[in-house]
Amino acid sequence: MKECLNVPVFRIISDIAAEENVKAFVIGGFVRDCILNRPSKDIDIVVLGSGIDFAGKVAKRLGKKRLNVFKNFGTAMLQAGDFEVEFVGARKESYRQESRKPIVEDGSLEDDQNRRDFTINAMAISLNSESYGQLIDPFDGVCDLGNKIIRTPLDPNTTFSDDPLRMMRAIRFASQLGFQIEASCFASIQQNRNRIKIVSMERVTDELNKIVLSPKPSVGFIMLEATGILDIIFPEFQALKGVDESGGQRHKDNFYHTLQVLDNIASVSNNLWLRWAAILHDIAKPLTKKFEPDLGWTFHGHEFLGSKMVPSIFRRMKLPLHESMRYVQNLVMLHLRPIVLSQEIVTDSAVRRLLFDAGENIEDLMTLCEADITSKNPNTVRKHLSNFQKVREKMIELEARDSIRNFQPPISGDDVQDAFGIKPCREIGIIKNHIKDAILDGIIPNDFDAAWDLMVSKGAELKLDVRLSKEELKAIAMVRGS
Ligand code: CTP
Repeated sequence: MKECLNVPVFRIISDIAAEENVKAFVIGGFVRDCILNRPSKDIDIVVLGSGIDFAGKVAKRLGKKRLNVFKNFGTAMLQAGDFEVEFVGARKESYRQESRKPIVEDGSLEDDQNRRDFTINAMAISLNSESYGQLIDPFDGVCDLGNKIIRTPLDPNTTFSDDPLRMMRAIRFASQLGFQIEASCFASIQQNRNRIKIVSMERVTDELNKIVLSPKPSVGFIMLEATGILDIIFPEFQALKGVDESGGQRHKDNFYHTLQVLDNIASVSNNLWLRWAAILHDIAKPLTKKFEPDLGWTFHGHEFLGSKMVPSIFRRMKLPLHESMRYVQNLVMLHLRPIVLSQEIVTDSAVRRLLFDAGENIEDLMTLCEADITSKNPNTVRKHLSNFQKVREKMIELEARDSIRNFQPPISGDDVQDAFGIKPCREIGIIKNHIKDAILDGIIPNDFDAAWDLMVSKGAELKLDVRLSKEELKAIAMVRGS
């Protein structure tokens, strides 16, 4: 295992362990990832004694002024080059029933390994001179890594009740690494699923995001569903599952469709929020589902309702509520537009409106729409993709000509107020929209002079007289920066 230890800080830890006559080991994720050949920047060191005292000595040797000490957890952390090194004293079983906050009690290395989450995370490598580089693997974690198995060191009911977040971690590792969860471990997650409720939403969401970012996220979501955890943490997603039948017609199962869209996105993008847009694009289908005898199954307005559901889902899941949420809302709201467009004759006006509504998100929206084609019929897929291609070509052509993507109307609401000498009122909105629509429909070019003429004529229709000349308004608008 010596090749895992070619980071300078290990030698320093080893020297201090010898000087202080304290046993030290590297343990957990770093060892697992080294055997799997995955790069890892987090190093966990367990010592038989005080982790905080030991960390202090390492910090001193490294000439570090900063050592982050977490007294309640008996841990300390320092930065060594690119690596974050965390020190902890070996502990015995140390969790309470009703909470995941540990009680710290000194123990042996074996005690410490017993209370870790999975066999693949319980392996340690000795940093002590007499056995430097020796792997200590009491539960055959290496074998489980080879067989791609997630298994707990102790009875899974004990391991999961010590810390119920581990149920999510099991599924997260399975999804990230493409592993299976061992049968009794899986059954134990099913049995203990309600205990996930005592874990804070932030930590649950942290694991969920790791599942979302895994190479094939459907693997994790299918396990979340099968264990019953999905229904507890994300009932809106659970509700997508199932197929109804009426008049001999069945709709597709939106749970599996959504997972396929998510996997499609995952194969082309690592953008977490684009993946979330895939997860949520059809989230309102169960609420809008209707059987109409002439049309079959319909989901009218699911894109609008879906985009309205995004904030409450983000709030409950403690996901960020600003830019990322608005991006997801925008994509959910618009996800049908390119499809509708591609089924009609692609008019300049419709493409300009799409560019205006999607703005900077247009590329991601097109990616989402392409991922949304999950038909098994190759002709249907080919037809959709070639129509999308036409939409894309038209977008490039119009964007080059009209710069709609970052479109700001050449005359603002303030300009309209000043031009007619009026206070805020309904007419301002009418005139502004009239100018915007005329530009998007290609009736006038996207410039100030053309917008001025239209504003004056629309104002006259509304019985408003201009109080300024075009040049005066231009000068005011320039000072205002509009
Ligand atoms: N651990 C545990 N139970 C938990 C969390 C962590 O037993 N609920 C142990 C495992 O031995 C784990 C180690 O603490 O390997 C470090 O945890 P963490 O840094 O959260 O995870 P890693 O396994 O390092 O994986 P990743 O970096 O992908 O999160």
